[in-house]
Amino acid sequence: MEKLLVTSALPYANGPLHVGHIAGAYLPADIFVRYHKLLGNDVIFICGTDEHGAPISIKADAESVSPREIVNRYHESIRDSFLGLEIDFDNFSGTARPIHHEMSQKFFLNLWKRGYLQEKTTQQWFDPVHQRFLADRYVEGICPYCGKPGARGDQCDSCGKLIDAVNLIEPRSKISGEIPVLKETSHWYLNLPKFEPELRKWLDTKTSWKDNVKNFILSWLNEGLIERSITRDIDWGVPVPLEKAAGKVLYVWFDAPIGYISSTMEWAQKMGQPDRWRDYWLSADTKLIHFLGKDNIPFHTIIWPAVLMAQDEPFVLPYDVPANEHLNLEGQKMSTSRNWTVWVNDFLAEFDGEYLRYYLAAIAPESKDSDFNWKEFQARINSELNNILGNLVNRTLIFARKYFQGMITQPLKFRDQSKKVLAEAALLVQDTGAAYAGYQVRKALKSVLDIARLGNKYFDETHPWHTVKETPDVAAETIYICAELLRIISIAAYPIIPCSMRKLRKMLKQSEIFHWNTLQNPLETLQLGEVNSLFHKIDDQAVQRQLDRLHKQNTHIPLNEHKSEITYDEFAKLEFRIVQIKTAEKIPQSSKLLKLTVDVGNETRSVIAGIARSYEPEDLIGRSVMMLINLQPRRVMGVESQAMILAAHDGEEMSVMVPDRPVKPGSEIN
Ligand code: MF3
Ligand code: ZN
Repeated sequence: MEKLLVTSALPYANGPLHVGHIAGAYLPADIFVRYHKLLGNDVIFICGTDEHGAPISIKADAESVSPREIVNRYHESIRDSFLGLEIDFDNFSGTARPIHHEMSQKFFLNLWKRGYLQEKTTQQWFDPVHQRFLADRYVEGICPYCGKPGARGDQCDSCGKLIDAVNLIEPRSKISGEIPVLKETSHWYLNLPKFEPELRKWLDTKTSWKDNVKNFILSWLNEGLIERSITRDIDWGVPVPLEKAAGKVLYVWFDAPIGYISSTMEWAQKMGQPDRWRDYWLSADTKLIHFLGKDNIPFHTIIWPAVLMAQDEPFVLPYDVPANEHLNLEGQKMSTSRNWTVWVNDFLAEFDGEYLRYYLAAIAPESKDSDFNWKEFQARINSELNNILGNLVNRTLIFARKYFQGMITQPLKFRDQSKKVLAEAALLVQDTGAAYAGYQVRKALKSVLDIARLGNKYFDETHPWHTVKETPDVAAETIYICAELLRIISIAAYPIIPCSMRKLRKMLKQSEIFHWNTLQNPLETLQLGEVNSLFHKIDDQAVQRQLDRLHKQNTHIPLNEHKSEITYDEFAKLEFRIVQIKTAEKIPQSSKLLKLTVDVGNETRSVIAGIARSYEPEDLIGRSVMMLINLQPRRVMGVESQAMILAAHDGEEMSVMVPDRPVKPGSEIN
């Protein structure tokens, strides 16, 4: 019996789950775990929410609520998504809990006592407006490695490199949008270079790891490891357990993986065997397997193993880190900020969770990025799940009800054609098992479906609707074989679509608790239970609603409304000139209006302009702008406006029109 400790990357409790998360770190793990539980292996499946770090406090700041409120809200939401999808963890914890804080502090102190940490004083970005340090994602800029914008203070999503925030080009504070300044602070650095020989030795044993994972790590090692700070100047997190570090917290990527351990400890406590977690984490024969999306590779394969190696007890190191690529949506990169995604809870409000499991297994981004496409989703559910698997269930069981009063009778011996079908199914089941064991969900799904295809073909070729009249035994054999294939499928497809397979087993009067090795126990004569359709089809409207929702932002932008045409002569009546702003002041009763005096070359005019929300008066003085001169003067708030400044409207923002290069005040425009 194998002992497996399976984890899925802890999702940040700063937003709901979307299908990209599920395809990357959760569904593949759940399928793998279900398979190993069927094999009778000793396996626990551990997760929880990642509740610290900048993403959560940024969100809390943005909503003016406490980080804990954010964490509680999304912990619930994420939990609901997992429940609805039958992603079935043995424990689902959260890193803001006391048990996790204690364990993380213990890990830190072990590193400190054993000489793996060094306190260093360095310069860090500091927001001059908000008077606080800008840890990690609080600062963004251009990536020093790949030159792409949008790199964050801890990592660049474009090239995947970890970044030292001080190297960001053109940094900006996420809080104020201001240019940050460097300020001195002290932090504790993990001496990663010290671990390099041991890490290399350990990685050398990982010959069977997925290529994408291994290549990533090797390129990291070959670039040379550097010391990494594992503390931060923010106020939400695990307090650094050193007196002189008051006010500092552990870096979220230091404490988060320890969440795998603290969640296992919580599990053991709930079982009433508080030490039981040690059987997994401190036992050399445990296979520790971390499922995750590719962005999380470096943290799990370099920093985390180093932290484990440095403890005072022999923690097990990751046995495998099956990382998945990205899931796109309708041909575009998913983006939560643009709402270009499919939220799990929205999906579950419309469709059965099993359909998402089925479709995501079919398109799992195992070795390259793949695409979620609503039309393909519909096609897969309708033409595969319904027309292949659902069809075999319906035609077999309905036939048995109609002609044999629901009896499935085990024949004394089989015709050759039947033997051949069973032998082929046995091979397909072997392929399915091997695929599950090798994290190949797509392949597993295909093999299972092939069993159903085999059944349908056999049904057609033996045409029981004919044989039942003259030779009912032959028809009964067909039905028996097809029911036997369904029994096999109820085990083989269970890891992917557990809920429907449980229903199928109920119809076939099969036990609710079963093992992979019961595949070998053929169906005995039985009386069918109640027969219902397992699946239903997804209609065009349902898919269209999803597509409409997705494209809503685009389709609802109204077309430009145009004014009626004017003649050239009408246009020629307008007198535009460049003017230079001489004075600018706020109008006390108005938040929108500024009073300006402008130089039109040989005269001065006063103008009221509605640009106070976008410009401070002092920013305007001395600037040259475009103006309509011959507009009839009007009185605005008691002041005469003798012309009109031209400005572009961008939503609430105004942008004044300025000449491309310096021109004399009074120059005419046409
Ligand atoms: N919260 C991280 C993310 O969503 C993953 C953390 S995995 C852990 O990218 F191991 F560190 F917990
Ligand atoms: Zn980059």
